[in-house]
Amino acid sequence: MMNRRKLLQTLAAGIGSPFLVTWAQAADWSPGTPPIDANLLSRDSARVFDLSVSSADPTPGGVVLWTHIAPGAWKSTEPLYLQVARDAAFADLVLQARVEPSRIGASADYTVKLDLDGHLAPATTYWYRFVYDATVSRTGRARTAPAAGTQAARLKFGLLTCQDYTNGYYGALARLAQDDSLDAVLHLGDFIYETAGDPRFQSLPYADRTLVLPSGGLVSLGLQDYRFIYRTYRADPHLQAAMERHTFICIPDDHETSNDCYWDYARDTLGAPDHPFTTDTQYGNDPALLRRLKLDAQRAWSEYVPARVALNEGATHPHDFLRQYRRFAFGGLLDLFMIENRSYRSAHPCGEGDALQRYLPLGCTNYNDASRTMLGAAQLNWLTEGLASSRATWKLMGNQTLFGQLSLTFLGTNLSPINVDAWDGYAAERRRIADVLREAKVKNFVVATGDLHTYIAAQVKRDYGNLNPFDTGNQLGVEFMTPAVTSSNIGEMLSQGMTTDQKTRLINGLSKAAVQLNNPHIKFFDSTRHGYSTLEFTSTWVEWVAYAVAKNVDSGDLLRSCIARQRKSTLLPWLMALSTDGY
Ligand SMILES: [Fe+2]
Repeated sequence: MMNRRKLLQTLAAGIGSPFLVTWAQAADWSPGTPPIDANLLSRDSARVFDLSVSSADPTPGGVVLWTHIAPGAWKSTEPLYLQVARDAAFADLVLQARVEPSRIGASADYTVKLDLDGHLAPATTYWYRFVYDATVSRTGRARTAPAAGTQAARLKFGLLTCQDYTNGYYGALARLAQDDSLDAVLHLGDFIYETAGDPRFQSLPYADRTLVLPSGGLVSLGLQDYRFIYRTYRADPHLQAAMERHTFICIPDDHETSNDCYWDYARDTLGAPDHPFTTDTQYGNDPALLRRLKLDAQRAWSEYVPARVALNEGATHPHDFLRQYRRFAFGGLLDLFMIENRSYRSAHPCGEGDALQRYLPLGCTNYNDASRTMLGAAQLNWLTEGLASSRATWKLMGNQTLFGQLSLTFLGTNLSPINVDAWDGYAAERRRIADVLREAKVKNFVVATGDLHTYIAAQVKRDYGNLNPFDTGNQLGVEFMTPAVTSSNIGEMLSQGMTTDQKTRLINGLSKAAVQLNNPHIKFFDSTRHGYSTLEFTSTWVEWVAYAVAKNVDSGDLLRSCIARQRKSTLLPWLMALSTDGY
């Protein structure tokens, strides 16, 4: 334990360090020591830290740390303290901080977010804990990124997406928490679902996972509902374990706001085709209400999903209020671009009246229109300039909806995309990115994707109709889609609202063999299970490993089966070596 002399030495070291100016400027916290000996602190962490702790957004010099004070334990004059150490016993303290009481309260729903960037060492594992009202939190573990100019021997990420709380248990997250080999976890969206028992997505066999929203309906109508949903998810012990043990890098998809959402440029507001504000006559499809919904979704995300982002409180337009896409550097080995697919994308190309129009628009080709955008002009420029100028060995794009083509084809001819809610609905912009990759000779491009509740390993090509494996200019990289933790898989999801005959044809068309016959660039496809995956990088290869963990039992000790292992070498960009274990 920290004695008084060691504590003073630690503080003195801080005062003499070049961090002093930065510390003085730190808005959220300042150096400070808990007033009580750690031995006297209460260990009843759940009373105060009801949603535990977590870390996020690693840089070479720090991470973002997060916690939440239970409103029942909150005191208007009580400061919060933070301790960060190089060991789990906190014998080797490296930083202590104090957060003023005025910074904790109802305005951010009692969440606290502290950025330590500039105060920690690169490529180092730290342990951290908070102290409030003489009570200590559970201990979290965080890892910083490698320093610029250094070449890590390896980097390994966990990949997560689509953790519908009402649709199953988080055994997969418990298993992820137990994996000590990960440098960070990328969460690719659908951290929450805005719906609570919507029969279109949620089969609800899990009575103990039923949510009753404060507004009383099935769909979040605003800030109070979103906050309630995030609090419910973050109270889950398996999600807490995963976020205590690993440093997360998160980006939202549609369900942090509303199903299949986009930006309605014609009305300059959120497009939310399934939301009551759009569909229920009592709300009148009011653009102001939809804009407010997006702002509320952004605020709740920034409160409950730790990330190095800041709300622009003076802004009234969602595009000015919060920017979520961001870049991470992992030394010379990897640059990560976390792109955001939902805030700036154009509307569905062929209508949204039924599932066929919205996803499988036979006979409609508007998805090729050059004016359509997925990322918006600013994000597209940021991405393409970043990819073209990156000097890292690997360029990893953290993405939501499937980047590659998924089509019905006949003799190599594309008859129709299957899901134009994904990049297939934004084909011209995808081609622009492909052209940048080809012209700038960007090597070792990898896409990590979520959204579709399916395991996929695929080659990324410029022209998917070009089947010549030796045309290396057509091979842009590889894409790995991580499966849903719990959310309904593709057959269940796409067949909603269809007749039995349509369902049968669609699900048959989506079977593994049919997918690969129609889409030979897809090397692995499975939409029957749930779990997570990992992505490991060295200087000469990337390896994706896909795991299945059952979602129907609430246990942290379930069997984790490896169902696919896919490795790609930097030397043979057109070759993907697939092995499947236990499949
Ligand atoms: Fe999802």
